[in-house]
Amino acid sequence: MIERIKNRSKSTVELFAPAKVNLFLAVTGKREDGYHDLCTVLAKVSVGDTLEMKRTDKNEGVNLRCPGFEDLETSGNLISQAVDKWFQQSGESWGVEITLKKKIPPMSGLGGGSSDAVSALLGMNKLGDESLPEDMLYNLASEIGSDCPSFLTAGLCLAEGRGEHVRSIIESLSQQISGQRVLLFRPDIGFSTADVYARLASKKSYSAKKRAQELVKSWENGNLSVEELLHNDLEIPVFEKHRYFLPLFEQIKQQYGIQPRLSGSGSCCFALLPSGFDQISQLKDLILKAWGDKVFLQTCEIID
Ligand code: C5P
Repeated sequence: MIERIKNRSKSTVELFAPAKVNLFLAVTGKREDGYHDLCTVLAKVSVGDTLEMKRTDKNEGVNLRCPGFEDLETSGNLISQAVDKWFQQSGESWGVEITLKKKIPPMSGLGGGSSDAVSALLGMNKLGDESLPEDMLYNLASEIGSDCPSFLTAGLCLAEGRGEHVRSIIESLSQQISGQRVLLFRPDIGFSTADVYARLASKKSYSAKKRAQELVKSWENGNLSVEELLHNDLEIPVFEKHRYFLPLFEQIKQQYGIQPRLSGSGSCCFALLPSGFDQISQLKDLILKAWGDKVFLQTCEIID
């Protein structure tokens, strides 16, 4: 198991911010606030970013560094937003230097920015004089982004509403899936979440909420395998615009019997690798051949 938070010293903590994949994602309609209602099962994986957070006495708020991704060093970054919200809520004011080591490609549907923000909240709680209670962290997380609350929950979780209503998937199922190997693969392009949802909205091709909830229940009750559960409504708008996804998915299905899926709004995809699967390098070659050598390819596993 990966330790998510380490105390380096009294004033320094290091946090692991895991990526997620959506094993199931049904979009069940558009809401009055402009967002969409979801029914989605999220799994955290062993690929993730690292945040090193150091408390300083300078009363300067947050100073964010992100080597190699300097364009992320802005006050609009979800980490900076999380720290600002934490200061506002707690009433404390001191300085924090954060170094973000980015491994999760942005604009990938892997929840990198959201996971970083939640880790920043947890880090502030460790470094602060007072800890904010869990329900307050949930509220702050849901204000920052729809995916954020799911990163406060350990193991597999179901998120509904705009993503803020989160509950754990039964522990025995989480434990059973923990350790399952996953191949992440992403073309050399990132997608805007808002664009993908807007294109789905223009087609109004939503899933029925009751049916989506029933499918998740059947899986939890052991009547569906995880492979049978795999689904993502956001593949509709993505595959329509980006025609190169489906042929690769079909080739992988045909040659290896594995059904890949898009994660969230993409552009990263994932394939659950069956236990004993020993053709990873051939599978990677197939992907490189189809999408070119700038593709992001990473083998990892589902974590608790
Ligand atoms: O919440 P977050 O900032 O991650 O969402 C980015 C965009 O994705 C939103 O502005 C919205 O356009 C779309 N979205 C949505 N419904 C959701 C989550 C996101 O329409 N449940």
